[in-house]
Amino acid sequence: MGIARYDKNDTFIDALTSCVKEEVKKIGAEKDVETMVTIKAASDSQRQQNTQVKELLAAGCNVLCVNLVDRTDPSEIIEQAKEKNVPVIFFNREPVKEDLAQWEKLYYVGGDAQESGVLQGELAAETILENPNIDRNEDGKIQYVVLEGEPGHQDAIIRTEEAVETLKASGVQLEKLGYGIANWGRAQAENRMIQLINQHQNKIELVLSNNDDMALGGLDAYTKLNRTESSIPVFFGIDGTTTGLEAVREGKLAGTVYNDKEAQAKMIAKLAATLSLADDKEIQQLPQQNYAPYAKVTPENVEEY
Ligand code: GAL
Ligand code: CA
Repeated sequence: MGIARYDKNDTFIDALTSCVKEEVKKIGAEKDVETMVTIKAASDSQRQQNTQVKELLAAGCNVLCVNLVDRTDPSEIIEQAKEKNVPVIFFNREPVKEDLAQWEKLYYVGGDAQESGVLQGELAAETILENPNIDRNEDGKIQYVVLEGEPGHQDAIIRTEEAVETLKASGVQLEKLGYGIANWGRAQAENRMIQLINQHQNKIELVLSNNDDMALGGLDAYTKLNRTESSIPVFFGIDGTTTGLEAVREGKLAGTVYNDKEAQAKMIAKLAATLSLADDKEIQQLPQQNYAPYAKVTPENVEEY
């Protein structure tokens, strides 16, 4: 199996690919087949990833797992794979339907972006309705900012929209103060958050972050600026990374949404095994799109994760 990652510095992708490696090993042992997994990372350049895919194919991989850099630009990878008749399992960065229709041996494994946004919105609504003191200036509205992932990524745009819509539908009055694009990264989020704090001072009551790393970066900003506990807003993340879960346990994050890497890794490994070992009939029955459910994580249930 060849795995192509969009970048090497991504906490969630790191954990997910480790899980895939483990699952492939497990299935190999069960089916008594030798397995080999090679992982490459593309420092956020689609051209570099195309070259890496070429190398993985040349090295003779039987299945490709691709975490696209640019999810709207998989054509070259599809062409190369088709030429060698090697099936492609895209994961986490979802190609558009038209591209998945380019060939029958293309698959997708990920989470449902809409679901993660709705669950984050529900978590935030539940917390706000239970804790009226979150509305610090008592104006009946929650002043909020958003820490956003990469522009163009399904998990950035959709998560933000759905979380906000869900909060509104739950009867929470909102006022958006601003946003910062931080490309999933903790350090970038810290910088964006420092700007937002300088701009809005202690008016910010809620931070919706598209992932845990950026929520943690936002919290780092408050630490760095030496802000008192009472001026720190409530933070919500998505992923349930090791550090994210730790922050929920410590009460620093009010909640997160579990991006089920174990389930996604199982789906990827199972698909890969079927694609390389089963007969055509079984292969034809494989679903092209595969989504693992997300789940809400709060201080009450965090120990289960
Ligand atoms: C998202 C995840 C982010 C980041 C991104 C990379 O699903 O929540 O933390 O890993 O994928 O594509
Ligand atoms: Ca308020």
